[in-house]
Amino acid sequence: MTNELVDKVAIVTGGASGLGRAAVQQFLTEGARVVIADIDRDRGEALAAEYGADAAYKLTDVSDPQQIGDLVAFAVQTFGGLHVMFNNAGISGPMYPRFLDDDLTDFDRVIGVNLRGVMVGTRSAALYMTEHGGGSIINTTSIAGVQPSRSQITYAASKAAVIHFTQCAAIALGEYGIRVNCIAPGNIPTPLLESSRTQSLSDDTRAELFKLIRQIQVDMTPLNREGTPEDVAQAAVYFASDRSRYVTGTVLRVDGGTAAGGRAEHRRSSASPRFRWPCHGSRRRTPLTLRPPAAVQTSTRRPVGTRTGPASITRIVGGLGYQLHPG
Ligand SMILES: NC(=O)c1ccc[n+]([C@@H]2O[C@H](COP(=O)([O-])OP(=O)(O)OC[C@H]3O[C@@H](n4cnc5c(N)ncnc54)[C@H](O)[C@@H]3O)[C@@H](O)[C@H]2O)c1
Repeated sequence: MTNELVDKVAIVTGGASGLGRAAVQQFLTEGARVVIADIDRDRGEALAAEYGADAAYKLTDVSDPQQIGDLVAFAVQTFGGLHVMFNNAGISGPMYPRFLDDDLTDFDRVIGVNLRGVMVGTRSAALYMTEHGGGSIINTTSIAGVQPSRSQITYAASKAAVIHFTQCAAIALGEYGIRVNCIAPGNIPTPLLESSRTQSLSDDTRAELFKLIRQIQVDMTPLNREGTPEDVAQAAVYFASDRSRYVTGTVLRVDGGTAAGGRAEHRRSSASPRFRWPCHGSRRRTPLTLRPPAAVQTSTRRPVGTRTGPASITRIVGGLGYQLHPG
């Protein structure tokens, strides 16, 4: 502990789980007082009780501007000010192998949390900070917002918009001493990551598939390991602290180098992971090979269709840009 955040008051939205929870812990370790803002009341209250007097929980749905206004007022009332606003809450959304399959029914929900929640959170915090000596606003985007892909297009678009918004806000708020930056995490195992990929699967299949996807993602990561919520929390401390006092409008990727070209490395890997699942109406288990995009382009074998295995798995790997092939 280096006491980087002593005398600072921070709000962390989505602070009851995953990346937000790690940031709450790290901010507290560095001496801040922290409001955990989340729609998960049980976990939020339990965490605040566990962390003691320097933490408080406020039930907040970031898609509701009124609730974000109340949240800022709560932080000021409870801890006497607001210096750091970490707009971190986010949701994924279904994954489709083809954009044409996406009927956009989820669009308003995802944009409401991931983009409007960030914009309203920034504005509400800035309205206080402009009158009280400035502050630091940190927004969570994603490498999905940096690197275009074929999967989860609404999610990716929302995260790309967060980056552009962050840069605009940095320009607009700099004169008030308010810095606005964003963090783009790579794939970090959290409930959000798992839920976005494994809807409608049995527990066993989900566990097996998730393990395999994680293995592929490590292959694609130059630093050759999975990221952790704590890795992202370190970046949040940097932006929250005065160490980043001349830094605004930036995107800090915390992805082990994936966006720098990890996928190209993976293409050179000869070993394709195997995945087995029971076929429909049969006890036989068919071994299938998961091929990355480069291999798919050169393969002469037909990819697996929905008759060979559960459509949900084909859809999930398709959403990642992969295909399953027999053998
Ligand atoms: N995990 C990853 O690999 C990854 C990668 C890139 C970006 N992100 C982003 O990081 C952020 C945190 O994700 P995570 O992986 O920690 O997920 P998570 O599911 O572990 O945590 C998200 C938290 O946000 C809360 N939340 C959801 N909707 C909310 C709302 N409307 N109002 C308030 N709180 C709400 C949830 O209750 C949960 O506690 C998200 O913005 C996500 O898009 C995550």
